[in-house]
Amino acid sequence: MEKLVIENSGKLQGNIRVSGAKNASLPILAATLLGTEDIILEDVPKLKDVEIICDVLRALGASVENLGDGTYKINSKNINTYETKYELMSKMRASFLVMGPLLGRMNKAKNSLPGGCTIGARPIDLHLKGFRALGVECEEHYGDSDNGQDSYILAHTENLVGNKVYLDFPSVGATENIMMAAVLAKGKTVIENAAMEPEIVDLSNFLRKLGGNIKGAGTNTIIIEGVEKLYGARHQIIPDRIEAGTFMVAAAITGGDIVVENVIPDHLRPVISKLEEAGCIIKEDGENVRVIGPEKLIPIDIKTLPYPGFPTDMQAQFMAMMTQAEGDNTVIETVFENRFMHVDEFKRMGASISVNDRSATINGRSQLVGNKVYATDLRCGAALILAGFVASGETEIYNIYHIDRGYENIEEKLRGIGGKIRREID
Ligand code: EPU
Repeated sequence: MEKLVIENSGKLQGNIRVSGAKNASLPILAATLLGTEDIILEDVPKLKDVEIICDVLRALGASVENLGDGTYKINSKNINTYETKYELMSKMRASFLVMGPLLGRMNKAKNSLPGGCTIGARPIDLHLKGFRALGVECEEHYGDSDNGQDSYILAHTENLVGNKVYLDFPSVGATENIMMAAVLAKGKTVIENAAMEPEIVDLSNFLRKLGGNIKGAGTNTIIIEGVEKLYGARHQIIPDRIEAGTFMVAAAITGGDIVVENVIPDHLRPVISKLEEAGCIIKEDGENVRVIGPEKLIPIDIKTLPYPGFPTDMQAQFMAMMTQAEGDNTVIETVFENRFMHVDEFKRMGASISVNDRSATINGRSQLVGNKVYATDLRCGAALILAGFVASGETEIYNIYHIDRGYENIEEKLRGIGGKIRREID
C-alpha cells in the first residue's frame, strides 16, 4: 500500500506553481460531449479524477487525446451511447456531470448513481429537479445491492424545453448539469439561486466559445437561450483556487514565506482575509500571491458557505492551521453534513478538538506528534500533509489515492519549497 511520509520541515520557503483547477476541468471535460468539432483544452491538471472522466468520455464514443503538458484534444462528434456504466460512475461523483450533456446531445441518458468522497449523503435531487423542469422524464431505479451497482437513473425526453429552475440550495454540480442540458434546449432557461463559483464562470465561458448563449454566470441568476448546435473551441482552464489556498496555508502553519504562482487572487478573497486575521502578511502581485506566516498564529473562526463565502474545500486545511494558533478557534461547516472526518485523524496526532453537530472547537496550540493517519477524503489528505510539516517525528498518511485525485505532483511541488515529503510502499 502506498503512503506519504512527512517530517517536520521548519519554515517552508520559495515559489510554488498552481495547476489548472480540478473542479473546472471535470465539468468542462463533461461539456466537451456537447461539441461536434475538435476541442482543445489547456492547463488540464494531471490527476486521477481527470483520467476517470476521460475514460467516461471514451466509453461514450468520444476521441480523447492527451497531447502532453496538460493539453487535450477531444472530439465528440461520434458519441454512440447514452449509457454510463457503474464501473466508471462509482469511482467519482463528478461522472454524473455527463448526464446534462448526454441529454443535450441525445435526449436520453442512463447513469449509475455517483460515487466519490464520503463527505455526506450528497444527493442528486436538485440535478433531477432541473432536468424535469426542462421536460425530461427521470426514472429513478434503486436496486438492493449494497454497493449501488444496480441503482441507476434513466432520463429521456422528446425535446428539451427551456424553463425556470429554482435551486433550493446553490449546488455547484446541479447548476453545471442544468446549464449543460439547457444550452441545447429549445427556448430560454433561467436558473435561480444558482451557484456562483468561479468554476461555473469557467464552464460558462467554455460553453460560449462552443457557440452557447449564456448570461449571468457568476451571479445567482443564469440565463441560457438554447441554440441548435455547438461546435469546437480552444479553452484554457482557470487556476485551482483550492490548491492555491492549500499552499498559502502551508506558509501560514509553518511560519514560512511562500510565493504562490498562477493564482487569481479574486477567487481567494475569503481565504486571504482569514489568513490575514490569523496574522499572515499577504502581498498580491498580479498572478502571484506571497504569504508570510507569523511567529504566532492568532485564533480565528470560520463558517463554510457557497461562493463567495469561505470554501468548504479549505476547511480541513484551516483546521490543521488552527491546531497551531494560540487559543480557541471555531469552524462551522454548513455545506456538507459530514465533513469533520479529519478531526479524528488530527486527534491521533495530538490535536485538541471537540465537535458538536456541524460545529468544531479547536484548542490551540497543540504540539502535534507524527502518527499513522488516514486520508478520509481529498482535502483531509492535504490537511494531514500540512499538519505533518509541523509535527514532531514522522507522519505516515495512508489512503493517499484520495490526494492523487486532486493534487498534481504534490510531493515534487512541496519539496520545491522545502517540504520533507516522500512516497513509500508499505
Ligand atoms: N446537494 C443536494 N442535492 C443535490 C446536489 C447537492 O442536496 O442535488 C447538497 C449536497 O449534499 C451538499 C451541498 O448540496 O450538502 C453542496 O453540494 P454541491 O452540489 O454544491 O457540490 P458538488 O457539485 O457535489 C462540488 C465540488 C466539491 C465541492 C462542492 C462545494 C466538483 C467536482 N466538486 O461538489 O469539491 O466541495 O462543489 O463547493 O466540482 C473537492 O474538490 O474536494 C470537492 C469535494
